[in-house]
Amino acid sequence: MELKLSQLLIDSALTGNVRSVEMALKKIAPKIKSDNPELYQYITNKLQSNLLRSKDNSKILPVDTDSRLQLVRVENPVLLPSAPILSEDIESKLLQVVKERSLMEKLLEVGLTPTKTILFEGPPGVGKTMSARWLANKLELPLIVLDLATVISSYLGKTGSNIRSVLDYASSFPCVMLLDEFDAIAKRRDDDRELGELKRLVTVLLQTLDDWPESSILIAATNHSELLDPAIWRRFDLQLKFSNPTPEMIESYIEQLHPDLKDHKELLCNLFSGKSFSDIERTFNLSKKEAFIKEKPFINILLKRSEHSEQTPATSKKHISKTERNEIILNLYRQGFSQRRISEETGLSRPTIKKIITTLQSIEST
Ligand SMILES: Nc1ncnc2c1ncn2[C@@H]1O[C@H](COP(=O)(O)OP(=O)(O)OP(=O)(O)O)[C@@H](O)[C@H]1O
Ligand SMILES: [Mg+2]
Repeated sequence: MELKLSQLLIDSALTGNVRSVEMALKKIAPKIKSDNPELYQYITNKLQSNLLRSKDNSKILPVDTDSRLQLVRVENPVLLPSAPILSEDIESKLLQVVKERSLMEKLLEVGLTPTKTILFEGPPGVGKTMSARWLANKLELPLIVLDLATVISSYLGKTGSNIRSVLDYASSFPCVMLLDEFDAIAKRRDDDRELGELKRLVTVLLQTLDDWPESSILIAATNHSELLDPAIWRRFDLQLKFSNPTPEMIESYIEQLHPDLKDHKELLCNLFSGKSFSDIERTFNLSKKEAFIKEKPFINILLKRSEHSEQTPATSKKHISKTERNEIILNLYRQGFSQRRISEETGLSRPTIKKIITTLQSIEST
């Protein structure tokens, strides 16, 4: 590759000049075609994808007319260190959305519309925001996130027009628009405390959902779908219910993100059962730091921390067999849990716990 072209590419990238990056790549591609067909193909794909074109949106970001604060955050490109761990059902539905986008023209030709609006509902920390980012990353589209704080803090009566300008902006070029904490703006109209304002907002949202263009995807995320106005709820093409991870999902999480702990995965799955991914991640991160500072094995600190967390270990769940329960009890004991603590968590008396531990230990030693 010629020195001048390489310099042009580097300078344009560093100054964020997407037009020049595109121009440099167009010049570079034919020059490397015979020597490096793989790189040529990569560059050609990028040039044809939405990534560069959509980044070239010289559109002015919407702002609150009084405070001049920006009403959205833009992530472009969206970079994700790893994909979210999802239930089979949610994963297959999201993959279908990606597939539909790749077949968009064909679908439109036969009169079918790809999924344009999706509602993510579920408790905190289970991957709603992460999945919206994942989708934008897969589709190579910018992610536009509504800054709810600015929108809501705007003067009374302005929320509706602010949201309208955000939605007009996001529907004017290909992107993934994320309306986080959607319940805050799409509450039932029978909430009579803020009736006038809410009515206006819901009307704006209903129109937006009806007129949303195929080129973009609108994702609304909420922890409280029961608060949403039923008319809004019905209008989404797809509704996905997220929940706290199952033991199998926690197992995948450990295998993919903490392979060094795979020997302890069964125990960890039990300890973290019922927790959200963000809680699990927080416990992992805090334990890593503590282990580093105290120069102690990570796993010991992790187990100690999870001992103090509030969740109930799976030992108290009815579906596990006695043998499994006894093994978990012995493991907990080996990891430093006191017999008193194991007794509290399992609901079994201390003498029973003691008996289980001594019996299993004597079996193992023979
Ligand atoms: N499904 C998942 N797979 C892997 N990591 C996850 C998953 N869900 C959450 N996490 C971890 O927890 C963090 C928070 O997740 P995220 O922001 O997606 O939660 P959320 O469902 O949007 O929660 P909230 O309702 O509070 O907005 C992520 O950055 C990620 O590190
Ligand atoms: Mg979120």
